[in-house]
Amino acid sequence: MKIIHLSDPHIYIDKIHGIDPVSKFKKALTHIKNNHGDADLFAITGDITDLGDKDSYQLFIKIIDEAGLPKNLNPQLIIGNHDNRDEFKINFPNIETDPNGFIQYFKDIDNKRLIFIDTNLINTHQGHYCEERQEWLNNILSKTNTDTYIFMHHNPLALVKEESDGIGLQQKKEFQQILTKNNKIIKHIFFGHQHITSSGSYCGITFSSPRSTWSPLIPNFSNEYRLGTANTDTNYNVAIIRSDALIIHTEDFLKTEVNWFK
Ligand SMILES: [Fe+2]
Ligand SMILES: [Fe+2]
Repeated sequence: MKIIHLSDPHIYIDKIHGIDPVSKFKKALTHIKNNHGDADLFAITGDITDLGDKDSYQLFIKIIDEAGLPKNLNPQLIIGNHDNRDEFKINFPNIETDPNGFIQYFKDIDNKRLIFIDTNLINTHQGHYCEERQEWLNNILSKTNTDTYIFMHHNPLALVKEESDGIGLQQKKEFQQILTKNNKIIKHIFFGHQHITSSGSYCGITFSSPRSTWSPLIPNFSNEYRLGTANTDTNYNVAIIRSDALIIHTEDFLKTEVNWFK
């Protein structure tokens, strides 16, 4: 199984902080179409738009339509802190929601369960996973006995230090309990939000995040700074899932002068 994981396109009609989110996202889509047309799933883990407004969602839909991706690459979406749940639902009326109206759903492919969860709370950049949402996830997991993959926007753990993770998931303890209880079936967590490339394991489960296609950031390991910008490339990830392995590749899709070896 092959999964394309892209995050944080932050679509907006204009440049944001001097960077055009639209042209970079279009380049990523072209790269995906040209190199990964055989993928089984294309997931975009939130911050679909920068402001969560109608015009930006419509622009996103237009870009996807014009990209002419094959049907298997029709993107699976979740929302991030920059999205607006109500506006998102109006613009994507076919997206599934849980009984409480949160944008949470699952999809079964190849005997694997892919669960997409909603960590948005209006008017904050922090990630939130309330009891109602936890109950929905616990309920799905209790009925699942196959390999499972979680897609979420916010990082469920601090990626460097707790003190510098002000806008990560706030219910870390509760989420940790869910992961630990289900770490036999949950095989990987895909997330975005911090705009940095990361990978590792948490509660016995591996995880990975790509940079934003709009604004790539870099981690800082001191007490002084949280994140930074640099003259560096953006990316998306490619996950290859085999019966004996899970491999994450980072695609620097703006790369040039590619020379393949035979
Ligand atoms: Fe973002
Ligand atoms: Fe975010």
